[in-house]
Amino acid sequence: MKSVSIDPQSAVPKYSQLREILLDLIDAELAYDALIPSERELVDRYGLSRMTVRQAINHLVAEGRLYRIAGKGTFVARPKVEMPLRLTSFTEDMLARGQRPGSRDLERRVGAAGGKVAKGLGLSPGDPVHMMVRLRTADEVPMAVERSYIPVLVAPGLDDVTLTDRSLYAILEERFGIELDHGEQTIEAGIVDPDDAVLLELRPGSAVLLVERRAFAEGRPVELTVSAYRGDRYQLHVGLDAPRLPATQSPGLTSSGGDGHG
Ligand code: GLP
Repeated sequence: MKSVSIDPQSAVPKYSQLREILLDLIDAELAYDALIPSERELVDRYGLSRMTVRQAINHLVAEGRLYRIAGKGTFVARPKVEMPLRLTSFTEDMLARGQRPGSRDLERRVGAAGGKVAKGLGLSPGDPVHMMVRLRTADEVPMAVERSYIPVLVAPGLDDVTLTDRSLYAILEERFGIELDHGEQTIEAGIVDPDDAVLLELRPGSAVLLVERRAFAEGRPVELTVSAYRGDRYQLHVGLDAPRLPATQSPGLTSSGGDGHG
């Protein structure tokens, strides 16, 4: 059983022990948006210095487990959003969670595709593309900054349509008759771009998940989007299948590999 007091002899730093205690409390007893005990109470209850208590809480805030409201206290954060591994839109994902999706156009223009965008969209460098930068929110909380590129030929006039609080995928379907039928996505860890940090209300240097998606309709690339999702609000969950190699291919079971010592 985990101890519910601080062990001063332990090699584990005290703030880290308190972090574990608070995590147990969050998981076992507190609903999201519940107020956690004040710093003063934690100091008294665990016999720690204020600095140590603050360090533990700062960690949990940076990890997205707690959030602070100035003058009110520290609260339990909502569970992280599962990064979907299907070709769904941000709007659909948030509605499925019972949250209100929002979108703000930060930049919209038609420009010449650079090398990477052209390659991703099966165009020649210099071909015209719609470029859009959007801030995505859930219940007004900033979640991601998305930079999307769509060939002008695929959706002529898209630049005249506002995307504020609207779904790009819904517009592609309704206005342009484009039904996306497959996609591919690369996900990697990143550090938030300084401008995005302001938009996402993150401290400079915070972690983000960088997601690059290409979506296709009838074999033709329609969208290339690079999104920076808040690392403190998103997680990735994948199911794992056991490898199903035929017995003869399992290492160690082969009697003679044929590529062995000749
Ligand atoms: C997700 C994807 C983006 C896609 C967007 C469309 O966020 N990462 O690549 O452009 O969904 O969402 P919506 O239709 O809500 O604008």
